[in-house]
Parts: sequence; C-alpha cells; structure tokens
Amino acid sequence: MLLKMEKITKRFPGVLALDNVDFDLREGEIHALVGENGAGKSTLIKILGGVHQPDGGRIILNGQEVHFSSPVDSQKAGISVIHQELNLAENLSVAHNIFLGREKGSWWNIDHKRMRKEAEEILKRLSFNLNPSAVVRELNVSEKQLVAIAKALTLNARIIVMDEPTATITEHEVERLFSIMKDLKKNGVSIIFISHRLDEIFSVADRVTVLRDGKKVASGLVEDFTKDELVRLMVGRSITDMYPKYNVPKDEVIFEVEGLEVPGFVKDVTFNVKRGEIFGVAGLVGCGKSELALGLFGAVKSYFKKMKLFDAEVKEIKNPMDALKLGIVMIPEDRKKMGLILDLDIVKNIATANSNLVAKLVNISWRKAKSLSNEAIKKFSIKASSIKQLTKNLSGGNQQKVVLAKYLFREPRLVILVEPTRGIDVGAKVEVYHLINDLANRGTGVIFISSELPEIVSLCDRVLVMHRGRQITILEGNEITQENILRAATGVEVA
Ligand SMILES: Nc1ncnc2c1ncn2[C@@H]1O[C@H](COP(=O)(O)OP(=O)(O)OP(=O)(O)O)[C@@H](O)[C@H]1O
Ligand SMILES: [Mg+2]
Repeated sequence: MLLKMEKITKRFPGVLALDNVDFDLREGEIHALVGENGAGKSTLIKILGGVHQPDGGRIILNGQEVHFSSPVDSQKAGISVIHQELNLAENLSVAHNIFLGREKGSWWNIDHKRMRKEAEEILKRLSFNLNPSAVVRELNVSEKQLVAIAKALTLNARIIVMDEPTATITEHEVERLFSIMKDLKKNGVSIIFISHRLDEIFSVADRVTVLRDGKKVASGLVEDFTKDELVRLMVGRSITDMYPKYNVPKDEVIFEVEGLEVPGFVKDVTFNVKRGEIFGVAGLVGCGKSELALGLFGAVKSYFKKMKLFDAEVKEIKNPMDALKLGIVMIPEDRKKMGLILDLDIVKNIATANSNLVAKLVNISWRKAKSLSNEAIKKFSIKASSIKQLTKNLSGGNQQKVVLAKYLFREPRLVILVEPTRGIDVGAKVEVYHLINDLANRGTGVIFISSELPEIVSLCDRVLVMHRGRQITILEGNEITQENILRAATGVEVA
C-alpha cells in the first residue's frame, strides 16, 4: 500500500469533522472519495496536504510514518493537491501560476518568456484552451480550475489529489481530464478524486470510499456498488426522483430581451421567458453563458435593443443596483468572489442581502435576521455549527447553499441561476430542483444556466445553446437531448 491514513480525527470548534477515519491508496489507482456536503472530504485532504494537523491518527507513506506540518512538506513527499478553494496567485499570469515556486530563470531575473513558452506546450498537450499570458484574476472560475489542474499535473507528483476538479468545468474538459487521469494511472501515479457527480465516479475510479458525518461508512471496488447504493450510503436514505419536474409553463411572456450584447463575449442574443417556465442556457466553457448572466444583471457592461420585464420596458441596466430594483436577481457562479462575504457569519450574509426584510428604517432587526437564517438553514439543510459560523469555515457545498438562501428569500421577479448546484451533494441538489420548480410556478421568471447537461435536459422547458458568444439555437420539448445540446454547443448547427 502506497499510502495509509489511519484513525484520522479532526475537531473544529463545535464540530467533529473527522472521526477515526481510515483511508488508503494503492499505487496506480484512482480512489474516489464521496459524501454529502460537510461530510469531511476536504478536511481529510487538507490533512494529507499539510494544511491542517490531525487531532489523532497517523499517516503512513511507503511504510513510514510521516508528519506534514505544512503544504511544502506534503509537496516534498510527492503529493500534489488541487484544493476545492483554488489558491492561485490572482495577479500573476497563467504561466507564472503553473510554475509558481519553481520559476524559470533566476530569482532576480525570472524568465517569463521561457515560462510562457513551456506553459503553452503544457496547455496544448492537455488541450486546455487558455492563454498563458492571461492574468488569472481576469479568468472565470472554470478557466481558473484548468490552471490549477495544469499546475498540479506538472509537479510530477506520485500522488495527485483532486478536490472537486470537475465541479466548474464542462463535459468536454472533463473528458480530457479523465483521459489524462487514466494515462497518469498507467504510469503508476495514484489519484484521489472527489466529486459529487456519481457518473464520474463510475467512469473513472477503481475504488470508492464513502464518508458520512465525519465517519467512514463504506469502502470498496466501484464495480461492487450501484449508484443507488452509493447515494443511500452518502445521504442515509434512498432518492427516488433525482430530477423532480412539476413546473407548469404558461403562454404569457414575462421577460424578453432582443439583441443582447456583452462586448467581447456575447453577441446578438434574443430570447424570452414565459411564466412558469424553466428557461435553460447551455454551452461549453468560454461560450459566453456566464457573461450573458453578468450582462443581464448589470455586473458587466451590456447593451440591448429591447428589453421587457412584466410589460414594462427596461431602458438600460447599468449596474446590479438597477437590476435589483427591477426585481432581477442573479445567483453568481463564483461564490468566493461575488456570492459571500467570507469573513462574516451566516446571519450577516443573509441580512445584508435582505435588508428590506430585516431592516426597520435604519436599524437591522437581528431577531428577524436570525429567524430568517434559521429558516434558511432548515430549508436548505445547511450544515453549520450555528448561524454564527463564519461562512469561510463552511464546507464548499454549504457555502453554496448560503448563497442560494441569501438571494432566494427576496421572491425576485426574474432570477438568473448560474450553476446553482455546483458543488452541492445529491440530496441538496434535489432540494434545489424543487426550489426552482416552485419559483417558476409562483410566477418568477427562471433562467437556468448550467454546464451539467443531465439537469438541463431533465428540468428545462426550452434551452438556448451558445457557441463562441453567439446563440446557435433554442431547443424545445423533445429536441432537448444531450446530443443536440452538444452538437449545437460545438458549433454544429441543429437541423
Ligand atoms: N476551518 C474550519 N473551521 C471550522 N469548521 C470547519 C473548518 N473547515 C471545515 N469545517 C467543518 O468541518 C466539516 C467538514 O467540512 P469539509 O469541508 O471537510 O466537508 P466536505 O465533505 O469537503 O464538504 P463539501 O462537499 O461541501 O465540500 C463541516 O461541518 C465544516 O463546517
Ligand atoms: Mg469539500
């Protein structure tokens, strides 16, 4: 056995994140780690990566007990970790990030040209469509994820740990990543892979370990489990209807936009959303779907020929304040950057977004804010030690749930959901799907943007597919299939 983690225990204030967890890894295998949001997956990985110290247990690498008191120790031991919350140097270029800490040239004279060239080769080999000179700050979350993957792969590690690497990338890049993982495996590299998408576990992993509430509840060969069994082990109950759909589309158009343009990203997009409908937007990374959302919300500069919301003409949306005043809400995809104030607790995050509900003239009613927060925790099954927990200390999926709770209390007139189920576990996903159906039925216009085709196909009444910033088609009814979406998304016109 290459790696053994024995009886690992980790406590945080108010929570036992890991309770005597055993985990092992063979040479040249892909071992998946699954579990609900807050189950302890990232914590286990952070202990292996030297980010956290365990309160109990030991790590044995190659038959020898090791202690990692910092990430550098772990990296030196041949372990390369892609953390869920990517830690990239935002102000440096893609190339520099890939070689960070191992810069080409000398420290007084970094050879940027050489790094750029080598990064270009690496990215080409991986067929990741990224400009090595681009500054990371300017990239969207998917592109950042690709940078982190490229960086981890070039460390020549023996163990590569990937904490939800596929959460933010699309089908196309996922397939690329999987073929890279299989190649690495052939070369004896071992991989720990975390994902909430069970299909991925079955297509790429050899073994799987399930955590629930900080405990290991099962471990074995992937082929010895069915998908339903894994779900049951993860959430402790069976889920019969993964994609509930009961929204009822009406004929009444409640939102329309004509000739929408986001300079540099989106060109000439025209569509409408009907009452009760779930209107989907799909496309590959970089197709402009995130920018379309930002544009509609006024978060980036956008122009349109015409826009109407509930019979009222909208002249322009200059900024998010304009959008919010009109009742347009966007659930952003980058929760770290736009969705949450990480240094504040759950109550304050929810209160700031819902000041109209909690404020009496100028004073915020904390009682009201607290009761809203408790309601949110119940409604979205947010796993937190209390509503006073800082959101930066929540697990990734639970942060996403706070973002949803924060914006959906408002009863918006039009909601733009950008990858709303990203990073959340199967049980919580079903909750979000119910919520989307409910929103649509209550008369809120729903624009649902997602890279996860199964949910687009199962939930949407119509789907606009984009390619290189342009609208290729709007699929309807039984035209909505994964195949048709992919064909349109790669620029092949649908008949
Ligand atoms: N730095 C921290 N301080 C306090 N609590 C923490 C900290 N990090 C994690 N926790 C808590 O430990 C538990 C396990 O969190 P962890 O991030 O390991 O979950 P996870 O399985 O990775 O979930 P997800 O699927 O949402 O990413 C959660 O209850 C979380 O709130
Ligand atoms: Mg996690």
